[in-house]
Amino acid sequence: MGAQQPPRALFLTGFMGAGKTTVGRALAARLGWRFWDLDEQVERQAGRSVAEIFREAGETAFRTAENAAVGALLQEVAQFATVAALGGGTLSQPLNAQRLRQVRAAWVFLDAPLEVLRQRCQPMAAQRPLFADEAAFRRLYAARLAHYRSASLHVNTAGKTPEEVAAEIAVALRLDALGETGRR
Ligand code: S3P
Repeated sequence: MGAQQPPRALFLTGFMGAGKTTVGRALAARLGWRFWDLDEQVERQAGRSVAEIFREAGETAFRTAENAAVGALLQEVAQFATVAALGGGTLSQPLNAQRLRQVRAAWVFLDAPLEVLRQRCQPMAAQRPLFADEAAFRRLYAARLAHYRSASLHVNTAGKTPEEVAAEIAVALRLDALGETGRR
């Protein structure tokens, strides 16, 4: 991301419970950008929830729907300044990572201690098909970490409100001054 070339998109990555959706919403509101949630797009396209897709059609079907949602996201990004919350496993599919990396985007890894991530996921466990016992949760997190860490900005969200995290990102990436029009 060169100094002359402000990002056209902001991609939030990280494990489940990291706050990608809530922070993404707050950040988009702050910047006046569009907000795009990849899981929501999958659900809209499929006409059922992520949990239902996993239950009724399996993870492979979910990953196929997620690929399609990445395609739709790329179309959105081509037209509008967009903050996008990716799914926790989106970057684990090489094709998704490859396509998303072609965009002039800023990448942010939202993180928190594993125990905090687990506590945040617990109340909505039924909606999170990959939320499992602690050992499996830890293993999946470890397997994903290299993908998340490839983001240029890492933010610990523990103990912070979504608005505080959004402010931290906007300041770190100097995005507040860009506004809607100054971005391309
Ligand atoms: C997944 C994370 C979920 C959702 C799906 C798969 C994953 O998104 O995409 O359940 O593979 O880690 P969140 O990270 O928003 O919970």
